[in-house]
Amino acid sequence: MTQEAPPTLISEQDIQDRVRELAAMISQDYADCSELVLVGVLKGAFVFLADLARRLTIPRVIEFIAVSSYGSGSKTSGAVRLVMDVRGNLEDKHVLIVEDIVDTGHTLKYLIGMLESHNPASVKTCALVRKAERAEVDVHVDYLGFDIPDKWVVGYGLDYAEQNRTLPYIGVVAPND
Ligand code: PRP
Repeated sequence: MTQEAPPTLISEQDIQDRVRELAAMISQDYADCSELVLVGVLKGAFVFLADLARRLTIPRVIEFIAVSSYGSGSKTSGAVRLVMDVRGNLEDKHVLIVEDIVDTGHTLKYLIGMLESHNPASVKTCALVRKAERAEVDVHVDYLGFDIPDKWVVGYGLDYAEQNRTLPYIGVVAPND
């Protein structure tokens, strides 16, 4: 059975243009740093991280972290649990957390605190999209791609029930729960 393509919310071209802008801003802001550690949050950030990292013009290394939120389907309970930590030593390093989406904000808030416990030189945040109207906690996004409405979005790393992560654009689907 062929799946119908989800309707577009943000086109591939708009995403690529914005990723280029974000990479230029980050490259400028960290121009005087010896190295930036990009920490991608699995799974969703893998596409954004790959494109962003390749557009940076500063020395950078890649780490991944995995978290899981207690809850199911499209609902999160707010409690976040670390599933996989970074491999490298972050002490005295400049760290940039790279997220695909900030929804309630619980995950990003947890990650900032968790990564700060590694005694880095700095921790900043970058997210491709944010659902501002869903925010439950106050968390700052230093580099934001797009503010989006409260719709279930897929593509460019984002999934619904593991489907549509590899769409080149961000589309909208209607969740079943
Ligand atoms: C998404 C996203 C963030 C989190 C944001 O991950 O990648 O990590 O939700 O939600 P919050 O702001 O409400 O905390 P998800 O749980 O869908 O896992 P996945 O990236 O593996 O698909």
